Amino acid sequence: MVLTPILTAHWDEADSYKLEGYKRHHGYVALAKALKSDPDSIIQTVKDSGLRGRGGAGFPTGMKWGFVPQNDGKPHYLVVNADESEPGACKDIPLMLANPHALVEGVAISSYAIRANHAFIYIRGEVPHVIRRVTNAVKEAYAAGLLGQNIQGSGFNLEVVVHAGAGAYICGEETALLDSLEGHRGQPRLKPPFPAVAGLYASPTVINNAETIANIPYIIRNGADWLKQWGTEKSPGFKLFAVSGHVKRPGIYEAALGTTMRELLEHAGGMRDGHTLKFWIPGGSSVPMLTEAHLDLPLTYEDMAAAGTMLGTGTPMVFDETTSVVKAVSRWLQFYKHESCGKCTPCREGTYWISGLLKRLEKGEGQETDLEKIDELCQQIMGRSFCALGDAAATPFPGAMKHFRTEFEAGVRTAADIAFDPAATTIFSKANV
Ligand SMILES: Cc1cc2nc3c(=O)[nH]c(=O)nc-3n(C[C@H](O)[C@H](O)[C@H](O)COP(=O)(O)O)c2cc1C
Ligand code: SF4
Repeated sequence: MVLTPILTAHWDEADSYKLEGYKRHHGYVALAKALKSDPDSIIQTVKDSGLRGRGGAGFPTGMKWGFVPQNDGKPHYLVVNADESEPGACKDIPLMLANPHALVEGVAISSYAIRANHAFIYIRGEVPHVIRRVTNAVKEAYAAGLLGQNIQGSGFNLEVVVHAGAGAYICGEETALLDSLEGHRGQPRLKPPFPAVAGLYASPTVINNAETIANIPYIIRNGADWLKQWGTEKSPGFKLFAVSGHVKRPGIYEAALGTTMRELLEHAGGMRDGHTLKFWIPGGSSVPMLTEAHLDLPLTYEDMAAAGTMLGTGTPMVFDETTSVVKAVSRWLQFYKHESCGKCTPCREGTYWISGLLKRLEKGEGQETDLEKIDELCQQIMGRSFCALGDAAATPFPGAMKHFRTEFEAGVRTAADIAFDPAATTIFSKANV
């Protein structure tokens, strides 16, 4: 498998993050081209390219832009989702550090296409160095007349605000992000209406992931067919695959969609010496795990779905035989419990109970009915919560049980254990959670 360095092509240059460094490699050529075109033709190019959102769900980007009503007399907004907080996901942060101008140029082009004069870049609050870097890139672009009033004499005006979140995973959910941006507590909104119709300040808003928007300048400069040279019909293009875990060389590997995990593992130097693969997760902790049997599947939206999982953020986590699956799932559930915004009962209560039961199993103190209980709780959350965080929380356990049931069963106390310890019959207590 060949890597496809595009977003990552110049990351090793000392000034890759500066305007001068970006311009040396055709930076802002696409913006000049876009400003001479009709906004609708840009939307059409993005539609034709088949680009799908890189934030996790893989929604077609051009189609999303097409939902924004035109000539409605309302202000339009572009919001970049750079909240990146999913366990295992780490690709937007390095992208913004090393190539922030691809994002800034993408923001300018995308805003022009959807007829927005205000754009917001919402960055996870725990990464001040990234916030500084993007803020500086925006400043450089303003100073060069690439943002602001009458950009390059085109008559197009665009104000860009870099906004720091406060560290809540839920603020990555697009409507919670909008509430947070408006100054409210970040909690998801009821949909419909969808943000494309009533988003920020109840006006039409496009929300896209940072990597999605960073793709735009390259597509506009090179054309829709250029993107289709990589990937498959349903998953065209390339992707920042962030490989983490028990591999020799964890890192970002930019490769065509359709690359297999086996090929990515080779690039990442393979498993650490003396260890073997136990399981891997294609994209963040919110998608079901896979095993060695799935290493040769193409990493595309459709192939991952057919395998019963999702490509998600395309940030594979790799675990070797030293990992306790019960412990891993338990940690993720503690994360979801902590990050649940509390708005709806299935997620708020369900994550509390599941994480408590998993902790008990982890200690080898599970009761006979615990696996059944966790399974039932997952079923009560899945499809019944207000936003996708609930579904995400209900995913790791059933996914892990499919492949590693006996490990969970080993956490259940046997009748013999209980006979020696009367305390084992104690009902589930707050101290366990
Ligand atoms: C709990 C939760 C957290 C999310 N976090 C992010 C995030 O940090 N970045 C992101 O782009 N999308 C995140 N998403 C997905 C967004 O809601 C939305 O689908 C995405 O920003 C759309 O961009 P795209 O079409 O370019 O993929 C999250 C979703 C949920 C439910
Ligand atoms: S599913 Fe969880 S995070 Fe989403 S609204 Fe309900 S409580 Fe909040």
